[in-house]
Amino acid sequence: RLKAISDALSVVPNFPKPGIMFQDITTLVSNHKVFKHTVDIFVDRYRDMGISVVAGVEARGFIFAPPIALAIGAKFIPLRKPGKLPGEVISEAYELEYGNDCLEMHVGAVEQGERALIIDDLVATGGTLSAAIRLLEREGAEVVECACVIGLPEVKGRRLLDGKPLYVLVEPRQ
Ligand code: PRP
Ligand code: MG
Repeated sequence: RLKAISDALSVVPNFPKPGIMFQDITTLVSNHKVFKHTVDIFVDRYRDMGISVVAGVEARGFIFAPPIALAIGAKFIPLRKPGKLPGEVISEAYELEYGNDCLEMHVGAVEQGERALIIDDLVATGGTLSAAIRLLEREGAEVVECACVIGLPEVKGRRLLDGKPLYVLVEPRQ
């Protein structure tokens, strides 16, 4: 049934840059059955793990994190691109293929010792997830796992996640 998830992805060659095979999840989430199946896999895995925080990474992590949070009885918190959160924030920079980017989290978004799950759509280098882990840990949360719908079988991310477990459902489509 993971094949249904993989089959529902579409691949756009040379987007947003030449040489990139863009993994498009819009076709997955526009299929109610497959979207629900995807969310249910995460919900089954995390429902009894004492997780009280599901953090989603802007933008595509925002699609998957809230339904998971609601189903497992956890709160949702957004990790946002710079300058979007109105309150006091902490920031963590990370490297992209060309240049840098940054994620921000509200100070006070989590309580000391809260067990957190981090959700994104895809892991490539793992830079984004590493920044997300640092944000949560700086505020005293315990990051239980990072989970993505799509990841390379040998994701470099696994090495960049500071020993944090990474759970992925399917490989990128060719
Ligand atoms: C993409 C993807 C992940 C990240 C993975 O997001 O949604 O968040 O890249 O890459 P990494 O593992 O090498 O860090 P992107 O920054 O393109 O923006 P978006 O989610 O806002 O579309
Ligand atoms: Mg993203």
